[in-house]
Parts: sequence; C-alpha cells; structure tokens
Amino acid sequence: MFDVTMSQEPTLFDRIGGEAGIEELILAFYVKVLADPELAPFFRETSLEKLHSMQREFFAMALGGPVKYTGRSLAHVHHGRGITMGHFARFTGHLVETLRDTGASQEDTDSVIARIEVFANEVTGTSY
Ligand code: HEM
Repeated sequence: MFDVTMSQEPTLFDRIGGEAGIEELILAFYVKVLADPELAPFFRETSLEKLHSMQREFFAMALGGPVKYTGRSLAHVHHGRGITMGHFARFTGHLVETLRDTGASQEDTDSVIARIEVFANEVTGTSY
C-alpha cells in the first residue's frame, strides 16, 4: 500500500536549506572552484550569466531541486574543453568540502556526489 508519510519526509533539497541554502552553497562552491589554479583557467572566458546557468543546472541535478534544464546537452557544452577525470575529481572534491563546511551529513554529501558522478563521462568527453 502507498505510504503517504513518505512524501512528507524532507528531501535532500529541503535538508540543504531549500532555495536559500542552495544559493549559499553555490556561491561558496564556485569561490573554491575559481580559486583552484587547475580549474580557474577553464572559466576565464565564461560570462557570469553562463556560469550562473551552470550553477543552477549543476545543483538542480545534484539535489533534485525544482529547476528545469532547457540548455544544450552536457556532452555538447563540455566537448573539446580538455576536461579530464582529474579535473572532474577536483571539481567534486570542492563540492564535498563545501557541503562539509555547511554542516551537511556524510550521507547527504555522499548522495549529492553520487548524483553528480553519473555525468562524469559526458563532462569529460569520454562518451562523446
Ligand atoms: C556534473 C558536472 C557538471 C555539470 C552538471 C555542468 C553543467 C554545465 C552547464 C549547464 C553549463 C552551461 C551551458 C550553457 O548554457 O552554455 C556548463 C558550462 C561550462 N562548464 Fe560545466 N558542468 C559540470 C562540470 C564541469 C567541470 C568539471 C568543468 C571544468 C573543470 C566545467 C566547465 C564548464 C565550462 C568552461 C563551461 C562553459 C561556459 C561558457 O560557455 O563559457 N563544467 N556546465
């Protein structure tokens, strides 16, 4: 039988603090990404507007938040940029640290990372 109490459980999105929590998390995350000398060069030509769209998309995917993606495929967007698995790992490493800073539980941190890692091949171009 369908258990209605299930739908009242706070989602990962809720536990991170909803829209306001996400906004804070995003800012802190990209401060780390852009301060990383191995990642910053990728974003040198990127407009703040594009970066913002990436941020929203990124966290919508990570947390199942109520944001719909209407942009180009991730494989297409990242193709030819030379993003390696090493870069991808640094990127997710900053996310783990940011989540830790905000006090997210180990379980929530693990599930965010698991949701991000499914895009590794698309972002690094190994599936293009
Ligand atoms: C799962 C992980 C990732 C997701 C979901 C993601 C998502 C996105 C999205 C949605 C865009 C914007 C596309 C557009 O509207 O033009 C974008 C652009 C971009 N991403 Fe990512 N991204 C990820 C990982 C990475 C990594 C690891 C790097 C580099 C280390 C990276 C570098 C870039 C760059 C340079 C752009 C281009 C911005 C521009 O057009 O100037 N992304 N990404």
